[in-house]
Amino acid sequence: MSILTLKNISKLFDSISVLDKISFELNKGEFFSVVGPSGCGKTTLLRIIAGLEFPTSGEIFIEDVNATNLIPQKRKIGIVFQNYALFPNMTVFDNVAYGLEVKKLSKSEIKEKVGSVLEKVRMNDKANKSVTTLSGGEQQRVSLARVIVTEPALLLFDEPLSNLDYALRLETRNEIKRLQREIGITSVYVTHDQSEALALSDRIAVLNKGVVQQLGTPHEVYFKPENIFTADFIGHSNFFDNDYAKEIFNIDINKDELLSVFPEEIIPVENTESNTWARSLQIKNYRHSVHRIFN
Ligand SMILES: Nc1ncnc2c1ncn2[C@@H]1O[C@H](COP(=O)(O)OP(=O)(O)O)[C@@H](O)[C@H]1O
Ligand SMILES: [Mg+2]
Repeated sequence: MSILTLKNISKLFDSISVLDKISFELNKGEFFSVVGPSGCGKTTLLRIIAGLEFPTSGEIFIEDVNATNLIPQKRKIGIVFQNYALFPNMTVFDNVAYGLEVKKLSKSEIKEKVGSVLEKVRMNDKANKSVTTLSGGEQQRVSLARVIVTEPALLLFDEPLSNLDYALRLETRNEIKRLQREIGITSVYVTHDQSEALALSDRIAVLNKGVVQQLGTPHEVYFKPENIFTADFIGHSNFFDNDYAKEIFNIDINKDELLSVFPEEIIPVENTESNTWARSLQIKNYRHSVHRIFN
């Protein structure tokens, strides 16, 4: 069974195309990322999946049921936001319990479920603390717990780490990965940070201006970029036209092509014969790709 299927999802805002024919299918337990620069349509895509926004055309299936016109409450989806969205005047326990109280579960059931989820995110010892006393990383773990406790079929993350500093970002992303593996919940994770997507995902869709540029495993999008955008955005490649490709690397490409090479594959070498910068470079492991220029 597919957990989420998008078929040709397009969205126009004021007749401007923000998403163009997005299609993919997620298997159970898969961690899927959508990565792309700011403004490329990531949040809009998540909002459409969650039912907070409707597509201009296309269809959405959740657990093989057509959900295109369902309200958010009927979709069995949990969202983790960038800004935590916790209730500041409540304790960790009450924040996590809230969704279950709305569902009118019994007190003992709530206690058991919240306790078990807080243990999973390693926040059990802070259950009775006010959320305002927590660090950013802890707050993000509570917001994750609050979503997981409702047992959604699908978890959506909208740049959940962008408010954290670098060290905490790494720590929290490992935590998300561990939890996702442990619970096995199918997830769509959007981020502008390609290293996050590469580290976390089973598969990645690279999005630019509302169009999927490439969809594949982290290995595929990194080592086999299908176009210039993906090569540049995912691998920070350096590009060489046919003159330089020949002169520096002795590789023949056409005039309407570019050679892309990872920076880490290029090494400076001792230059005794010539003082041109070009001859002081070599490719180390020789990983490159050739792309047609579409301008
Ligand atoms: N409600 C809206 N009305 C009009 N334009 C919108 C609306 N929401 C988003 N947009 C536009 O859609 C584009 C994609 O936005 P968004 O999905 O937020 O991108 P991202 O999350 O990748 O930064 C942007 O150009 C944004 O200005
Ligand atoms: Mg966004």
